[in-house]
Parts: sequence; C-alpha cells; structure tokens
Amino acid sequence: MEWFGDAPRTAVVTGGASGIGKATCELLCRDGYRVVVADRDFEAASAVAQHIDGHAVRVDVTDEASVGALFDEALRYFGGTLDALATPAGIAETTPFDELDAATFRRVYDVNVVGTFLCVREAAKRMREGGRICTVASVAGKRGGGLSGTAAYAASKGAVLALSRSAARALAERKIVVNCVAPGATLTPMLADAFADERHRARVEAMTLLNRSAEPHEIAEAIVWLLSPRASFVAGETLTVDGGLMLD
Ligand code: NAI
Repeated sequence: MEWFGDAPRTAVVTGGASGIGKATCELLCRDGYRVVVADRDFEAASAVAQHIDGHAVRVDVTDEASVGALFDEALRYFGGTLDALATPAGIAETTPFDELDAATFRRVYDVNVVGTFLCVREAAKRMREGGRICTVASVAGKRGGGLSGTAAYAASKGAVLALSRSAARALAERKIVVNCVAPGATLTPMLADAFADERHRARVEAMTLLNRSAEPHEIAEAIVWLLSPRASFVAGETLTVDGGLMLD
C-alpha cells in the first residue's frame, strides 16, 4: 500500500489559520506532511505556514472557483499527489431562535455545509486511491445545540454529519475514505465570546466527564489519526471528541 511508503504526503487544511485547523496543520507537519494552510484570513494563514514550513493559500470555501483554485495551487506548489484533506473552516452563530432570520441561517449553512461539500468534492477530484478526508461537525449537530451555538449552527453541523456519510458512500468506489470528527467545546477564538461568561463556561464544562474544555490539539489529534494509515479500517465514521459530554 503506497500510503505506508516513505513518499512525503500532501495535506490541505481549510480554516488552517486558527484554532482546531491551526493545531491540525501543526500536527500534520509533526507527522511529516507537506501542509497547505488554507483560510480566508491570509495573513494568519501565512503566519501558520511560516511556522511549519507549509504553504498558505487564501480561500473562501463558499466560492466554487476559489475552492477549485486552492487544490490546483496545492498540487502546483508541492507537486506529487493530494493525500489528505481536513475541513475545519467554519463559523459559529448564537442569535436566539426567535430572532434568527433567513439570511443569517443561509450564511451559516453556506460556510459550514456548502463550503465543506465544495472542498470535499474538489479534493476528491484530485485524489488518487488511498486519499483520506476528515470533515469537522460538532456535538451541536448531534444534540441540537444547547451549548454555545443555536439553531442555525446546530442545523448546519447536523448537515455536516449527513454530508460526511453521503460523501463516504459516494467516494468509496474510488477508494477515497471520508470520516468526520465531532468536537465538544474547544478553547479557540470561536468560543472566546461565549466563554467570556464564566458561568456559561462552567455549565458547559460540567456537562463533560472531564469537567473541562478541549485544547485545540486534542481535537486535531483525532483528525490527524483519521487522516493517517493508522486508521486504515475506519471509514464513514463520526468520532466524537467531547470529554464524555454525549455519554448518556
Ligand atoms: P476558529 O474560529 O478558531 O477557526 C475557524 C477558521 O475558519 C478561521 O481561521 C476562519 O478564518 C476560517 N473560515 C471561516 N469562514 C471561512 C471561509 N468562508 N473560507 C475559508 N476559511 C474560513 O474556530 P475553531 O473553533 O477552530 O473551529 C474549527 C471547526 O470546529 C469549525 O467548523 C467549528 O464549527 C468546529 N467546532 C468548534 C468547536 C469549538 O468549541 N471551538 C466545537 C465543535 C466544533
């Protein structure tokens, strides 16, 4: 199996400029990958890329042309093949249910769901057999929110869970494997506003068995494992990484 060989592997990480995506870039670098740090925030992506000797690319995952250009650039820059994709790029949304309007709902869906779909589709077009993809949902998609995000966010992450399974089926024939990670509360810039409220943070953390939030690298370890040959028989799976929050 070529994947177990010594050839350097190329990975693209969307949302690689911050939080879980940034940690994923760092761990992929540790594991010897050539990493494309893709984000709409090019300055922050460049800082991460410089740190790990990767390559920064500006992308808006909601824009089809931009996503296609990202993967062309990844192959142009590093040569070889595209071996792995992680899709942490996403946005949170906390507008209360009664005040949530259609435009906001569509914006969240566009980034979290359509954006994930476009990246998976365009990556898969350029992958060979053995390519591996890991999407990023959330426990909010499993339990219907109730933590820091609300309806639009929970619905979008539920859609990512279904999309990931659908993509796993669709791409299986070409021997491209898709899995998904569903993180619980993780200490990244995304959660900073919500967790500025200490009582809210304590309530969410008390729902876990470990009574704390995750550090970004604790989620990234799961993503990197699912992208690696070490997870060779794991396919179409959702790995919940939440300190036991979903246990019931
Ligand atoms: P973050 O806000 O630290 O990082 C998200 C990154 O995505 C940012 O660098 C941002 O610029 C980028 N991004 C947003 N929209 C984009 C677009 N249209 N095109 C390209 N890049 C875009 O957030 P964090 O916490 O690292 O989240 C990563 C993923 O994990 C998200 O999908 C989030 O929903 C999910 N997640 C996070 C949890 C948490 O507690 N932090 C819990 C569960 C899931």
